[in-house]
Formats: sequence, C-alpha cells, structure tokens
Amino acid sequence: RKSVTVPGLHAMKAEGRKIVMLTAYDASFASQVEQAGVDIALVGDSLGMVVQGHRSTLPVTLDQMVYHTAAVARGLSATLLVTDMPFMADRDVSHALEAGARLVGEGGAAMVKIEGAAPHILESIHALTERAIPVCAHLGLTPQSVHKFGGFKIQGRAQDAADRVVSEALAVQQAGADLLVLEGVPTVLGERVTKALHIPVIGIGAGPHCDGQVLVIYDMLGITPGKRPKFSKDFLAGRHSVAEAIQAYVADVRSGAFPAAEHGFN
Ligand code: KIV
Ligand code: NA
Repeated sequence: RKSVTVPGLHAMKAEGRKIVMLTAYDASFASQVEQAGVDIALVGDSLGMVVQGHRSTLPVTLDQMVYHTAAVARGLSATLLVTDMPFMADRDVSHALEAGARLVGEGGAAMVKIEGAAPHILESIHALTERAIPVCAHLGLTPQSVHKFGGFKIQGRAQDAADRVVSEALAVQQAGADLLVLEGVPTVLGERVTKALHIPVIGIGAGPHCDGQVLVIYDMLGITPGKRPKFSKDFLAGRHSVAEAIQAYVADVRSGAFPAAEHGFN
C-alpha cells in the first residue's frame, strides 16, 4: 500500500474520495488499523477517557501522549500518524513548539492536532507549520473546552454560533492548518464548513457531507463503557473479528454509507 501523505489527503478532497481516520492507542490496534487500509491513525487524547477511565480528556499529559504515539508508530507503516496536543501543552506558542517537537521527534507523529481558534492557537498553527510540522485543527465540540461548554454539547446550533465556526475554520486554514477535524455540529454546518474550505474536513458527529470521518476505535467496536454516542456505530456487531469491523468501517466511509442521517444532528 502506498504511504498516505498530507499532499495526498489534499488530492483526495480535490478528487472527492472520502478520507478514513480512526483512533489507535497502542501498537496492536495500530497494526489492525494499518491492515484495514485506514488513511489516518489518530492518537487521540480521548485515551484519557477510554484507556485511563477519566471523565474528560483534561488529565492527559504530554509524556503520556508521547508514550502512546511512539507505541502506535511501531504498529504503522503506510498510515499517516496524527497525534493530539494535550490540554495546556499549547498554552502559548513556545510550549506548543516544544510539545510539537516531542510528539513528532520522540513520538514519530507526522502531524499534530490542536483544538480551537483562539489567537494563540492560530499563532501556534502558523509557527508549527513554518517549522514543517503539519497541523490538524479541531473545531466545534472541542472536548478540552468541556468546562466552558458546560458538558459535551453540540456546538454551532444557533445562526451566530454557526457563523462563528465557519469563520474559525477559515482562520485555522489561513493560519496554515492542513486538515480540520470538525466535531459535534449540525449536519448543515458540517456541509457548510466542508464547502468553505480547500483543506480536507474530517467529521465526527458532523454529518455525511465532510471529506472524511473519524471515530474513537472503542466506540466503533462497541466496547466503550456506557451508552454508545449517537454519532457512532458498533461495527463489530454481527461480525467475527476486530479486523472485519474496521474493514467494514473503512468500506462504509469510502462508499458514503456511514454516517447515515440517524448519526447526525439537526
Ligand atoms: O481524542 C480524540 O479521539 C479525538 C477525535 C474524537 C477526533 O480528538
Ligand atoms: Na482529542
């Protein structure tokens, strides 16, 4: 399989080919993700919730992200490796650069993901990109802002809030982001943002119109404790292996069968 690259992802958007992204936190799952032909493996700070058992992503440290990123890197070959900048590692531009250097240098990531579009985040996106660290932006329901939002709530429902997400998306693209994860927004807003940007937009709970999709692997295997999120789907149900479940997810994202209308928000 040919290696997935940042320019290759841009070409996929231009050609209307759906991009498949999935989280992984260790080498064994990374190798399953690799073999199923997923384009992008994300070492999400969601590991704070699904691996460590916390109620939010906030307790995850930079050392832990470097550790998990390096483990995932050992399980991959052609899959592009994106990793999360954990809470407060991007508190200012110099910390963001230090963190980016560790996640790429020690961890082996090809790209780092940063939440939000605050002025210091836009500056960090620019500074990292200038130093040849590609950045994936993350907007909408950004889980590190859980206390500001008052919970994990769908964002951009009101007209002014939707307009704000669109201007943030244009701002992160302008700052140099090569990719955008858009989480927890109404389907119509997912479509609007995807059409407004030339960089690929990867949705999670953002409807079917995005350029690609991402899920937390334990959600799509149906093993996350508690209620399955509405935007997710148990791909292991009725199948016999993790490999088959991930293959089905890849096929359904590529064909547009996932997400269906029922996985989106109005
Ligand atoms: O941490 C994570 O897994 C993420 C995805 C849900 C986009 O940021
Ligand atoms: Na994350």
